[in-house]
Amino acid sequence: MEQVNVTFLPGGVTVQVERGTTLLEAAIRAGLHPDAPCAGRGTCGKCRVRAEGREVLACQTAADRDMTVTLPEARRERILTAGVTAQAEPDGRHRYVLAFDIGTTTVVAYLLDGITGKALSQASALNPQTQFGADVISRIQLVMEQGPDTLSSCIREGLAALTREAAQRAGIGPEDITLAAVVGNTAMHHLMLGIDPAPLTTPPYMPRVFEALELPAARLLPIAAEGTVRVLPNIAGFVGADTVGCMLATRFDRLEDLTLMIDIGTNGEIVLGDRRRRLACSTAAGPAFEGARISCGMRGAVGAVDRVWLEDGQVRWHVIGGREAVGLCGSGLLDLTAALLDSGVLDETGRMLCGSAYRLGDTGVVLTQKDVREVQLAKAAIRAGIELMTEKLGAAVNSIRSVYLAGAFGNFLDPVSACRIGMLPPVLLDRVRGIGNAAGEGAKLAALSGAEFDYSKRLAAETEFLELASLPQFQDCYVDCLGFEEEEE
Ligand code: FES
Repeated sequence: MEQVNVTFLPGGVTVQVERGTTLLEAAIRAGLHPDAPCAGRGTCGKCRVRAEGREVLACQTAADRDMTVTLPEARRERILTAGVTAQAEPDGRHRYVLAFDIGTTTVVAYLLDGITGKALSQASALNPQTQFGADVISRIQLVMEQGPDTLSSCIREGLAALTREAAQRAGIGPEDITLAAVVGNTAMHHLMLGIDPAPLTTPPYMPRVFEALELPAARLLPIAAEGTVRVLPNIAGFVGADTVGCMLATRFDRLEDLTLMIDIGTNGEIVLGDRRRRLACSTAAGPAFEGARISCGMRGAVGAVDRVWLEDGQVRWHVIGGREAVGLCGSGLLDLTAALLDSGVLDETGRMLCGSAYRLGDTGVVLTQKDVREVQLAKAAIRAGIELMTEKLGAAVNSIRSVYLAGAFGNFLDPVSACRIGMLPPVLLDRVRGIGNAAGEGAKLAALSGAEFDYSKRLAAETEFLELASLPQFQDCYVDCLGFEEEEE
């Protein structure tokens, strides 16, 4: 088969591929981790590049000769790594320990002194699997077509690179690390371990492995050959070890007051409870708030509109990096929706009264009617989850004393906008606080102490999973939550 050379700019990386290979595949082989939320199906439009002077979709364009391809400006991701956590008491059994939080979009590694608990370094990167699809479901579909090997080795290579980077920053060798603890959602958990995650996509949507694991590191990470990897337990198909990490970090089973914790990512996991009883559920919030399925959606990176507000009736906005606006990240999407409701551009059913799209000033950023519908589906999923869980506990929404928002989006969103669009009950507005990357903080605790790891097992075992879709009132509640009617605070 004839080979052709594809050179990617900026950076000038050249890769040799068989003639006819798509530019997306070529970029992946060149190790460039391109954005491909629809996994190359040609539907998301996010893999746009310039090739031979034309704008094309990389996944739909074949390299039929030697080519030069310009990628969109490298986007510096804004990854949240600071968190609120319980103080760890290291058991001092390991000199150096690593903690991983494997998110669907980003992966963060923390290297810690296992004796003092002090943070030594950290490294983070986009999850290299994003090149195969933004959301968990498109990646699982790929596994169903090709088996888990591609995605498993992809994430393990990513973890290995972060291990080396964190070790190098701390001036030690990766082999000096003798223990690692890992959290992640159930699909990431399974893929890292090489377990087929297909059962997550069909009823009853349960993971293959629930229990916490302690495994020899040799097959998983390039740490000491005799090292150990602790993997925190899962609660249900879409309530994974990352949620358990959040509960561990916040000592959720010791809370006196009724507390709601929401981790909004590609799914929305919700935990509601206190020291007496805890419920967990997952809502199909979809990846809208991470930019997928939104026409100008993007992750929180340079060029993203991350804040929108009304000033004297005019829509104003802020762009990350102070550059030209190129898209909307989750917090900007939420704010813009709220601002358009307040300015009368959207009515309470979500209908756009200015035509089929709203343009942000003279930028190229637009919000379409279809985007608004995606926001409605996502926010209704979260709100219905809150309402139904509260009902299940026999409590009133107003009796929730604290709302913890975990994860990057939760930390950056404006609670006023979240309440205005009805994603959160307005009555809870003053009780909302971002708790940062609590899942990562939980992983750190489990890395520093065997007792913490055991505590995570108890937390998972003592949390009841609520399958929202199986509740008879789910559909009605979900439909009720779709609108934008202004609610009382
Ligand atoms: S359109 Fe190319 S990856 Fe989605």
